[in-house]
Amino acid sequence: MPLVLAIESSCDETAAAVVRDGHLVLSSAVATQIEIHRKFGGVVPELASRNHVVDAVPVVRDALSQAGVRFADVDAVAVTQGPGLVGALLVGLQVAKSLAWAHDKPLVPVHHLSGHLHGVFLHRAGEPRPAGPEYPHVALCVSGGHTAIYHVHAPAPDGRIELVAQTRDDAAGEAFDKVARMLGLGYPGGPVIELQAAGGNPRAHKFSQPRFKDEAPLDFSFSGLKTAVLTVIQNTGRLPEGDALRDLLASFQQAAVDQLVERTRQAARQAGVRHVQMAGGVACNTCLRDTLRGALAADGIELHAPPPRYCTDNAAMIAAAANAAAERLLGAGHRPEDRALNARATWPLAS
Ligand code: KG4
Ligand code: ZN
Repeated sequence: MPLVLAIESSCDETAAAVVRDGHLVLSSAVATQIEIHRKFGGVVPELASRNHVVDAVPVVRDALSQAGVRFADVDAVAVTQGPGLVGALLVGLQVAKSLAWAHDKPLVPVHHLSGHLHGVFLHRAGEPRPAGPEYPHVALCVSGGHTAIYHVHAPAPDGRIELVAQTRDDAAGEAFDKVARMLGLGYPGGPVIELQAAGGNPRAHKFSQPRFKDEAPLDFSFSGLKTAVLTVIQNTGRLPEGDALRDLLASFQQAAVDQLVERTRQAARQAGVRHVQMAGGVACNTCLRDTLRGALAADGIELHAPPPRYCTDNAAMIAAAANAAAERLLGAGHRPEDRALNARATWPLAS
């Protein structure tokens, strides 16, 4: 039952968490840089790194004090090794390495997307422990940097993960962020678009779905949808407001959701699984959650989705993903040389 302290700094959130046994969240502290990046309409990598430097130690302190534990109580330190912004990753990695070395704890490097796939198992004291998806299952990972479907055959760290589909251009969250920027709605785009779309007509604009006839027909594409929204704006000659804005956003959101839902449903059917999970920031979207749940239920498939606080970047999911490897290191009584551990900016989860 390891107690894991985890650090996550792959993008614009500096996060630390203390998690017991891969599921019980004792604390999950997140310092978000959203306000800093908002005026640029997206994440500025250099600013992200600098702010991780400022926030990392206070966030780790918060996580320990909120959990009511000291370094001595922690069994292992986990950290996101990649993929992500290299400068941002290096800050978290350096802090984690220093802490693990100074306090003589094993260090567990974690893949950011493996982290996202473990958010679904998390709960706080007093909340029921989620059953989580059965293995094998299909996972829709949908965030600002990634959009992919995986066939997850067995649990980490040994379980085989197969890539079923991925985006050929923008990630879904990136499309939400770019459309919001085009319309002057600020960053991040997802939450504001969801809010505005709720009052609009999703059938006001008919946006077509991308089709691939090659060996990966379930692959995603969102850049055409983004361009289609831009074309509507250009044809109108000014930025839409009021009902016109709400209708455009509702139609955009519907097209994005339909693409994600239809392909995930196909992937689940083809894999013959009974359980699907969704993860990543875009998994906060209620329209996506409800539509996917309904579509899968029609096929007798159960959807598992974490609460929004474990969909967006956090360190509790990193601790959960590290748990089995931490148990193994602790049981083995020896540990690999980890002071040379480096950030991996690009790192496929599966191929
Ligand atoms: O997982 P995440 O926190 O960071 C990455 O690893 O990318 O995801 C952030 C992304 C952003 O693109 C944001 O616009 C999107 O998730 N997002 C949403 C919603 N909330 C956040 N997209 C659609 N609807 C939402 N409610
Ligand atoms: Zn993420």
